[in-house]
Amino acid sequence: MALLANRSFNAGTEKDNILSTSSDEFLKGLERSDTDLPFPAVNSPVPPESRLVVHTEPRSAGADRFRLVQVRLRHLQAHKKLKCLLITSPMPGDGKSTISLNLATALSEKGKRSVLLLEADVYRPSILKKLYLNPWPGLTECLDNNSDPMLAVRRVDPLGFYLLPAGTPTQAGNFLQSELSPQFITSLASTFRWILIDAPPTTPMAEILVLRALSDATLLVVRAGETPREAIEEATKVLGVDHILGIIMNGVEGLDKVYSKYYGYTGPNPRKK
Ligand SMILES: Nc1ncnc2c1ncn2[C@@H]1O[C@H](COP(=O)(O)OP(=O)(O)OP(=O)(O)O)[C@@H](O)[C@H]1O
Ligand SMILES: [Mg+2]
Repeated sequence: MALLANRSFNAGTEKDNILSTSSDEFLKGLERSDTDLPFPAVNSPVPPESRLVVHTEPRSAGADRFRLVQVRLRHLQAHKKLKCLLITSPMPGDGKSTISLNLATALSEKGKRSVLLLEADVYRPSILKKLYLNPWPGLTECLDNNSDPMLAVRRVDPLGFYLLPAGTPTQAGNFLQSELSPQFITSLASTFRWILIDAPPTTPMAEILVLRALSDATLLVVRAGETPREAIEEATKVLGVDHILGIIMNGVEGLDKVYSKYYGYTGPNPRKK
């Protein structure tokens, strides 16, 4: 809350400057105030198994694609209300958590922008394991104890985004449906520029509809060559075409070969003999 108040205060008192700058410069100015959020930090070794290519292989085709999505999302945010994105998929294992991690890292640009990754897959949490981080109380504990979600947020170094992990996995089939309320997201939304929700798959349907109602749009992850067409159609029906901002195709083969010729530019120029 305090941070939002701070932003509008700056916008108000620097009116003359704002009027004389372009909208891009204005947005950049606002983003400067994102960097100093007072959350404790945890440090991840970012193991290769995390497939966090934006960090571990910044010159790969995959990392480039995440940066492209990042740029498109920022442009969309400048034109319409877009803060809370649901990341889900038709099937388990399509790559939701891997995509969420990469996108959070790309959007945050090493902490330049405040990005919260909210792990809402309370049934099969995986983010802490992927990042080799020791567990701390997360979403399930916050909802069980009705405690302030801000207390469960940590900044993940060196990646720069903020994480609210799922917490202790639950077996209760309708946990999110019965526990998660719009107020939960509202309190987080006043602090962060982006909230990415790493969700369970689109079935069971009731659970995903709760998360859909809390978010502004959905990114649907599908696994190239694996997610059945019927499952994609079914997921699209459940979410509604209007709520789907885009489909992220995970695991497209051969991209790196195409890109390697563009990404060799820091090495010796192959044309120079
Ligand atoms: N493009 C890829 N190429 C190869 N392996 C991948 C790719 N994307 C993800 N994986 C691997 O597939 C497995 C599932 O990925 P991930 O955990 O991101 O999926 P998920 O949709 O979040 O799964 P769940 O439904 O269990 O939450 C992981 O072991 C991950 O490392
Ligand atoms: Mg997952």
